[in-house]
Formats: sequence, structure tokens, C-alpha cells
Amino acid sequence: MKFRKKILCIGAGYVGGPSMAMIAYKCSDYRITVVDTNPDRIDAWNSAELPVYEPGLDIIIKKTRGKNLFFTKDIENQIKENDIIFVSVNTPTKTYGAGADMAADLQYWEKTARQILKYSRSSKIVIEKSTLPVKTALAMEKILSSGKGKIKFEVLSNPEFMAEGTAMSDLENPDRVLIGSHETKSGLKARAELIEIYARWIPLKKIITSNIWSSELSKLVANAFLAQRVSSINSVSALCEKTDADISEVSRAVGMDSRIGDKFLNAGIGFGGSCFKKDILNLVYLCSYYGLPEVAAYWESVIKINEYQQERFIANILKSMFNTLAGKKICVLGFAFKADTGDTRESPAINITRKLLAEHAQIIISDPRALKNAALDLADIKGSINYVEDPYQAAAGCHALLILTGWDLYRRLDFKKIYHSMVKPAFLFDGRNIIDHNKCFTIGFNVYPIGKPALSHL
Ligand code: NAD
Ligand code: UGA
Repeated sequence: MKFRKKILCIGAGYVGGPSMAMIAYKCSDYRITVVDTNPDRIDAWNSAELPVYEPGLDIIIKKTRGKNLFFTKDIENQIKENDIIFVSVNTPTKTYGAGADMAADLQYWEKTARQILKYSRSSKIVIEKSTLPVKTALAMEKILSSGKGKIKFEVLSNPEFMAEGTAMSDLENPDRVLIGSHETKSGLKARAELIEIYARWIPLKKIITSNIWSSELSKLVANAFLAQRVSSINSVSALCEKTDADISEVSRAVGMDSRIGDKFLNAGIGFGGSCFKKDILNLVYLCSYYGLPEVAAYWESVIKINEYQQERFIANILKSMFNTLAGKKICVLGFAFKADTGDTRESPAINITRKLLAEHAQIIISDPRALKNAALDLADIKGSINYVEDPYQAAAGCHALLILTGWDLYRRLDFKKIYHSMVKPAFLFDGRNIIDHNKCFTIGFNVYPIGKPALSHL
């Protein structure tokens, strides 16, 4: 079959895989190829067990893989063959040298740019899909224009706004698609080419354009605003616990103001995930770099409140359980950073578990999707950890239950059955405020929600 467009994506991760699957699904006359330097990832994309869990992804992969969607390790030939290249490689926080623990580590990004330059035999549109510091496109352009030939590269910014767990519906029906380009003749032509792809299924009024720098910065700012809402409500949850106010009631009252809106106002144990912390640190670094220490400090406080919220949660467990956890069995329900994903990157559960192990607690971890990743995250730990998928088995014989991920299945658990299998007094710390606290208190649990009065028999 002759395809109308040939598109390559470099980076077959949480973004590259699902976003390209959606383009392939919506544009059956385009050929989409995804490559990665990690051969295991490519093998997994070609197998029955996909490397990322995302509701609905398997169905779309089944409909497209081998027809117009391909996963391959052959980066060199794919760069040669494709004219439109998305780049969605990882951009983690730098762990070394200048800007360590703050700036984005752009080594994967730069390697990709050099690969594109090395293997290209014709002009291409290169699209930043990874989240990058503002002005990264300039560096990419400098690398790409360092070649001697007549080949031209047009760099666009097209940040991804999908969230894990809802990636497929976010990709199918996004709030907006943002495309940043230079406002030159060739920049506008490349922009039009990218608009043509998205316009296949997204209304034109949702496809917005800007200059490249605004596009790069908008992605960092969108994540910073979302994280700021979580930290704002979490900071208020601490005050609720001191004053007998109820954070759910406060969230509802505040969120019903249409100027504020009701999303991202659920108090909990803090935000996790691979991006919020990394992107805010990146923003903080940029502000410091450009001589704006007050602005940097403002955004840094969002991270500080996030850390404070986890420390508060841990301190509350210790205090409520008579100031010692040594030898006590604690069941962690949920290890993923949020529900509906197996991803545990920056999950609050990692820090909380490590701190409890430092108190010599015995930890039993349960999660419907994230046990493999949990075991990798805690591989260096010598303490007592068991991984048990069934929540009833995991809780049996424990002194305390901690709900750390808002999996829907935890709302429907038979807490009476669980209570009877536990050591008494039985403690329940709901780090996501998802269960019926009064009901669990009536069953016999000592219940500790976030931002609400504790319900204790002691
Ligand atoms: P990921 O780590 O899951 O995937 C990145 C992939 O790129 C890896 O498989 C890695 O092997 C590959 N890679 C690295 N260097 C390469 C190279 N030179 N050539 C080929 N492949 C290479 O990361 P992710 O979660 O998909 O995130 C990718 C980018 O998208 C990041 O910048 C992130 O901030 C951004 N983002 C992520 C999400 C999300 O929900 N995870 C959402 C929006 C934006
Ligand atoms: C987030 C953004 O929502 C996406 O738009 C963005 O594309 C993505 O980051 C990215 O750049 O990687 P994601 O991290 O997948 O998506 O998940 P979110 O739904 O944003 O949740 C992040 C964290 O905040 C989770 O740990 C979640 O439990 C927590 N959260 C969220 C709360 O504690 N309370 C809330 O009300 C909402």
C-alpha cells in the first residue's frame, strides 16, 4: 500500500507509543514507525504484553500494529525513510554537574538530534514532543544546521498534554493541541503539515499555534499550574486537620466557583509521576538562570509543600501507632503514582515505604498493576518487604492499612472482612480520601483520612 505520509517517532515510551498509536488509528493512510534505543521496549511493543499499561491502548494497538503502525530497532534506516520526525525521548532531571537536581538532562535529546543529522539524506520536519526547557529548539537547530549538505530541517514544538491512566481519551479528545513554529515561510509550511495530521480528528478550533518559545514554556507552565493546585489543596489539608474543617467540603465549596474550577483539588499524599517534579525543577532552574530568584522561589515552594505532605503523613502514622513501628506489619494498598497506571516513577509510595522500613516496619505491598515496578524501585532495600497482589491476603495479619493509590477497586473492598483478619487495634490511613471513613470506623478501624478529623476508638 502507498501511504500518504510517512511519520517516525524516536522514543517508544509512555508518550511515543500511545500518541503514535492514536495517529495511526485516526490516519490509516499514514505509515507510522516508532523506534527506540532500548531493544526490550521495541520487543515488548511487538508482543502481547505491551510495555505500558494504559486503558484502551491494547485495542488500538491490535487495530493498527502491522498495518500502518510499526515498532522497530532500525533507527538509521527509519531516519532516512521518514520526512516527519517526532522526538519523544526522556528528559529527566540532571543528576550531575552544573544544574544537578534541577535542570533537564538533555543528553538523550542531543544524541537524537545528532542521529537525525547523521542519517538524514533529505530535508525533514523535526517535532519536539518531549517536554523541554524554553529555547531548546534553538540548540536543536544549531546542531541540525551544522551539516554541510543542502538538507534543511524545520524544528517545531508540539508538547504532549496527555495524562497517564487517561492517555487514550486525552489523545482522542484533547483540550487543545499546541504547535509552536517559527513564523517564517518554511516554519509556517511545516506548521500547516502538522496541523493537517491532527485535523483528521481534532476540531481546528482546538489546534492552537504560537511561536516556538511560547509553546515550549506553555508545557512547563501547564504542569506547574496543575501541581500548584495539588500543593495548594494539600497545604490547606494540614490546616483542616488542626481546625476540624473537612478538606472535601472546602474543596467542593472552593471548586464550585467557576473561576477556580473543581479539578485537581483532591488532597492526598502529594503528587507523583515522572513529570510534575521534574518540570517544576526545570522551571525553577530557568528562572534562576535568567536572574529571577523570587519567581524561582515561588515555584519551588510547590515542591516543598509536596514533600511536607508526605512527611506529615509518615509522622501521623508513627504518632498514631504509639510512636513505634518496629516489627509491625503494614499493608500498602497501591504503589502506582496514580490509579489506572502501572507507572511508579516518583510515586509517593516509594518515599513512604522507605521511611516506614527505616522504622523497622514489615511492609506488604499490594497493587493491581505496579508490583513489578515496585520491586524494581525497592530492589536496593534490605528490610522486610513482601509483594502480594490480592488485597485481602496482603492485609491479613497486619497492624495497619495505608491507601496510597486511588484505585477504584479499593473503594469496593469488603473492609469488614479485612478488619477481622487484622491485628487489633487496626489502623487505616487513607492517603487518597477514597473510602467511606465513617463506615470503616463503625466496623472498628481507627481511621486517619487526609485533611479531616481522625476517627479513633483509642
Ligand atoms: P520514557 O522514558 O517512557 O520513554 C522515552 C524513551 O526514549 C525510552 O524508551 C528511551 O529508551 C528512548 N530513548 C532515549 N534516547 C533515545 C535515542 N537517542 N534514540 C531512540 N530512543 C531513545 O519517557 P516518557 O514518559 O514517554 O516521556 C517522554 C517525554 O515526554 C519526556 O520529556 C516527558 O517529560 C514528556 N511527557 C511525558 C508524559 C507522560 O505521561 N509520561 C506526558 C507528557 C509529556
Ligand atoms: C500530568 C498532567 O496532568 C498531564 O497534562 C501532563 O501531560 C503530564 O503530567 C506530563 O507532562 O507528564 P500525570 O502525571 O500522568 O499527568 O498525572 P496527573 O493526573 O496529572 O496526576 C499527577 C499526580 O498528582 C498524581 O500523583 C495524582 O495522584 C496527583 N493528584 C492529581 C492529586 O494528588 N490530586 C489531584 O486532585 C490531582
